[in-house]
Amino acid sequence: MNTQHWISHFEANTRLNHALPLPDTACTLPELDRVAIARSIAIFQLGESGGGTRLRRYTHSIASLECLKGYQRAVDLFVAEEQSHAALLARLVTHLHGTLLQKQWTNSIFRWMRDLVNLEFNIQVLLTAELIAEVYFGLLSLRCSDPAVQTVAKKILRDEMGHLSFQRDFLFERLKELTPAVQRLWRWQFQFIHSATAWVVAWDHRDCLRSLKVTPADFRARAARCWESFQSRLEKRLSADASWTSPTGSPLSRPT
Ligand SMILES: [Fe+2]
Ligand SMILES: [Fe+2]
Repeated sequence: MNTQHWISHFEANTRLNHALPLPDTACTLPELDRVAIARSIAIFQLGESGGGTRLRRYTHSIASLECLKGYQRAVDLFVAEEQSHAALLARLVTHLHGTLLQKQWTNSIFRWMRDLVNLEFNIQVLLTAELIAEVYFGLLSLRCSDPAVQTVAKKILRDEMGHLSFQRDFLFERLKELTPAVQRLWRWQFQFIHSATAWVVAWDHRDCLRSLKVTPADFRARAARCWESFQSRLEKRLSADASWTSPTGSPLSRPT
């Protein structure tokens, strides 16, 4: 994994979030929309505000692997970028006259799940949230008429696309060690957890989605397409890597 690329990426990119200027206009959304969108963004704000303690604990356990040299530093910077998202979303909640949350049931389940198995599962749960965020911030940036919401949603969407590549790089390193049968098992459970999460989020954020003129079914369909796209890129890399490896596991020489 090219961890140095990610370290440089996060170092340059997160700085932009701290200084992101928001349009200096008061919120003019209709009251029902404002309330629904503020509540929904407050839930995502809480999700982005973790300190990364669990993730850092897990990454410590693989810090000595040669192929993941520098991963710990990259994860620290990744966590800092997520915290910059929390700060941006907190500014939006204030702009929308909403209330920041300390606790919320979907966020509690999400945190509990991340601790269930191991680092790979922790990353997978994070990744599930990021795939959902791709749909959510994409819709906010396109369908919410408030300029401040659009500005933040566009920036976070761009960052989350980077996070998806970062997680894909890591999962590729870990999954390529597994047999094709175990990779298939991993795929099924990932798809199941992602699909269940999309159902829960579509229901919990239904008022916000209604304000954006998106049905829960449309949200789930968009989420499924994002999952397919992520997974097919990951599988393409895995099968390309497998084709460079002989049946005995030793690398074949690459053609020049
Ligand atoms: Fe984020
Ligand atoms: Fe992220």
